[in-house]
Amino acid sequence: MKHDHFYLTTPIYYVNDAPHIGHAYTTIIADTMARYARLKGCNTFFLTGTDEHGQKIEESAKARGKNAKEWADENSEKFKTLWDDFGISYDKFIRTTDEEHKLGVQAAFQKMWDKGDIYKGEFEGNYCVSCETFFTNTQLVNDEFCPDCGKPTSVLKEENYFFRLSKYEKQLIDWYSQNEECILPKSKKNEVVKFVEGGLRDLSITRTSFEWGIKLPDNIGDDKHVIYVWLDALLNYVTALGYGTDEKNMEYWPANLQIVGKDILKFHAIYWPAFLLSLDLPLPKHIAAHGWWTRDGEKMSKSKGNVVNPKEIADAYGLENFRYFLLREVPFGQDGDFSRRALIDRINSDLANDLGNLLSRTIGMSDKYFGLNIELKDLYTYHKEDMAKIDEITACLEPLLYGMQTHRYLEEIWKMLGVANKAIDTVAPWNKMKEGKEAEAMALIALCVNVLARAALLLSPIMPNKMNEVASAIGFEINTQNFEKLIYEKSPLASSKLSKVTALFPRIEEIIEEAPKQVEEAKKEEKKYVSIDHFFETELKVGTVLEAENAPKSSKLLILKVDLGDGDIRQIVAGIRESYTAQSLIGTQVCVVANLKPAKIMGVISEGMLLAAKDANGLTLIRPETPKQSGSKIG
Ligand code: MSP
Repeated sequence: MKHDHFYLTTPIYYVNDAPHIGHAYTTIIADTMARYARLKGCNTFFLTGTDEHGQKIEESAKARGKNAKEWADENSEKFKTLWDDFGISYDKFIRTTDEEHKLGVQAAFQKMWDKGDIYKGEFEGNYCVSCETFFTNTQLVNDEFCPDCGKPTSVLKEENYFFRLSKYEKQLIDWYSQNEECILPKSKKNEVVKFVEGGLRDLSITRTSFEWGIKLPDNIGDDKHVIYVWLDALLNYVTALGYGTDEKNMEYWPANLQIVGKDILKFHAIYWPAFLLSLDLPLPKHIAAHGWWTRDGEKMSKSKGNVVNPKEIADAYGLENFRYFLLREVPFGQDGDFSRRALIDRINSDLANDLGNLLSRTIGMSDKYFGLNIELKDLYTYHKEDMAKIDEITACLEPLLYGMQTHRYLEEIWKMLGVANKAIDTVAPWNKMKEGKEAEAMALIALCVNVLARAALLLSPIMPNKMNEVASAIGFEINTQNFEKLIYEKSPLASSKLSKVTALFPRIEEIIEEAPKQVEEAKKEEKKYVSIDHFFETELKVGTVLEAENAPKSSKLLILKVDLGDGDIRQIVAGIRESYTAQSLIGTQVCVVANLKPAKIMGVISEGMLLAAKDANGLTLIRPETPKQSGSKIG
């Protein structure tokens, strides 16, 4: 499957949160697909960015005493910096606060309005701020809680503008049925189709209860409203190409692939195509929904305090190893539990053993027997069947990747490595050399070189730097021309001059402190233990109390200003007044849980928690034995 244009997108990330492994997962899959498309020679455009408007962002900024734009700038930069650190090959990083985006969204709103797809009406519903979504009474859990994230909803009554979603019901159903793979995986598609067949209600697409959003176009003349954040956000996929402003990149539309998490599939598979139909734009070719990374079976999220920091993992275990793990470990579309143990096992068995050893054995043998010069002339004489197997595997790979079966794609490549590894053991070239059968030993190495060359090309979208090293060790280059020759035409490499390299995939000998028996028992006893990973997710720091005062309206609470170093000064509300006066705390040190979600206590924001011990004699703060620098880590 060759595309001239290949446009692919990630969701744009909310800026109320720092990036975590879930965000990295979406972005790394997209980066892999973009690199594959480029390697094939497609004219590729890869878009990512940040979603910056809406009540959720407005509120999280307020909780920190910042204005929304400042807060958005700060967090958007965190995403961009991480993607740059990770070498994500995006062509554009869009922010929904960009001027062109705002103009594009207003142009789209205007077009929908002119077409009669937008009307004004009254709306009352149960609103979840966290998901920025309305739910019907029957959808709520226990009459109050959001069915998606479990947080309490509130009743919102507003005069709103509505989008005629119901008008597009039939067209959507036709699209689903005429385009087998428009939504991947198929199981997810079935859920979407069922939902739409159940009937669509018009969608409220403006809000008046907050201000942080894009205003309606001037000539609609209603400046009380801002545009619903999901309409604003979804349109990024076309405003990034210049929709409504400078449309020169609109030739990339429709997108070939839009990757999203399963939690936001409804927005992408129902609302988004309906908006596009209203704008008379063609629909995307594929929308692919992946599952969630969980910790102990729960979705990772900052509010649950169980997030895995992708930068920390990449720094500790190698970025490309981490990329491989993410794509290999869990079938696309399914949830997967993250553990360091599983990551290390993958690195050691797949990368160090199967791939790394194949490379070092190939180089070692070619050095010892043939001075690193390998000729391929007898390859088919001795390894015709092996090459046929490898060709067969090569042919099945692209459909697997385009079907988003990344784990299967990698599994098949590993079968290819298996053919070479097995052949080394069967042929035993060291014996052939002793028996004077040099041609057979040479043919065996030629087989290994060919397997490594194909693997290097096919794996380079996932591990670009490592695969460049593999390629140069076996004397060729990763480029479109070689991809065409070796992968599409399945031609063997001509002769090869190998070179020595240091081990590309060293084993990781880290001992993860999880005695299997204990883990089993802990599971049985309903999670009696927490893992070391989990423990370290709690950031404990030494803080110095700068100010302290009694909280109004409370006899138990004190409000402290605590210095956590590097200019990080927190307001912490602590229930310790029965044991400490405000004055006695100033200048003393305390131990702080630094990454708790800020919360309001008796109307005052608290940005951390103090550690204390309590018994029948009262409460005592836990403090360092001797003074430590503010911000020193505990643990
Ligand atoms: N801003 C919206 C998307 C708008 S797109 C027009 C949004 N942002 S998000 O930051 O909350 O999530 C972005 C992506 O990260 C989603 O695809 C989501 O599924 C993914 N992940 C967030 N947590 C995740 C995991 N724990 N695991 C895997 N991916 C998950 O939704």
